[in-house]
Amino acid sequence: MTSQIATAKKVTAVTVREAKGQVPLVAITAYDYTMARLVDEQVDIVLVGDSLGMVVQGNPHTLSVTVDEMIYHCRAVARAVRHSHLVVDMPFMSYQVSVEEALRNAGKILAEGGAEAVKLEGGVAMAPTVERLVAAGIPVMGHLGLMPQSVHTMGGYRVQGKTDKAKESLLEDAVALEDAGAYAIVLEGIPAELAKNISERLKIPTIGIGAGADCDGQILVGQDLLGLNVDFKPRFVKHFAHLGEDVRRAVAQYAEEVKNRNFPTKEHSF
Ligand code: KIV
Repeated sequence: MTSQIATAKKVTAVTVREAKGQVPLVAITAYDYTMARLVDEQVDIVLVGDSLGMVVQGNPHTLSVTVDEMIYHCRAVARAVRHSHLVVDMPFMSYQVSVEEALRNAGKILAEGGAEAVKLEGGVAMAPTVERLVAAGIPVMGHLGLMPQSVHTMGGYRVQGKTDKAKESLLEDAVALEDAGAYAIVLEGIPAELAKNISERLKIPTIGIGAGADCDGQILVGQDLLGLNVDFKPRFVKHFAHLGEDVRRAVAQYAEEVKNRNFPTKEHSF
């Protein structure tokens, strides 16, 4: 089975934007060639997320990921991606210091990593940066709500947009990103009702993670939906497979067969 946009032709920032009001967008993270090859035909968007700082590098947050690390992973993913739209996260402090620095880093990520768009966190405050990147020919996906790069400001990974004031400011942020030229916005960790309101208000698609069913698309970390992070099962994650258990079982069997000299057999020998 393939995603509806992906079957038609190569998914781009333009086709993602035009998908609003049509089929729900399907997005997933990938950080390496093998995973990207497996998911490319099934989804519309592959995100090389800075979540790789946690998922791949084992850090408690995403803050230490560098531009060069994002480029390294993006190159591997880009070698596999044929159909889906390839987006890369701009890591912490690669775009917040100045618009010029954001432009230089985003350009580097596209030119050296092979990304087709960048994603960055923040709303009204980031609008001038988004505008400049878009004017330079770099498609920008926004990211609002629970913004992992602001983990210390948020006091942890907490659901955002719960008060009336926070709801209002999230809506303002979303409109500011759209006005600045963002072609889509990830909404993470916000109440479903708020995500619905934002999605209805915008002309560009919203892609939710922990933001309910009424966004224009959904994204999950690949390792999470595959059940590879066995101990990580927050409310917004569904395990569509239990590969973590499969890996443990397979490696235990491999170890046993090596110890018992049941592997390799003649069949695996020259
Ligand atoms: O870094 C990431 O993987 C993300 C997604 C979870 C949206 O930003």
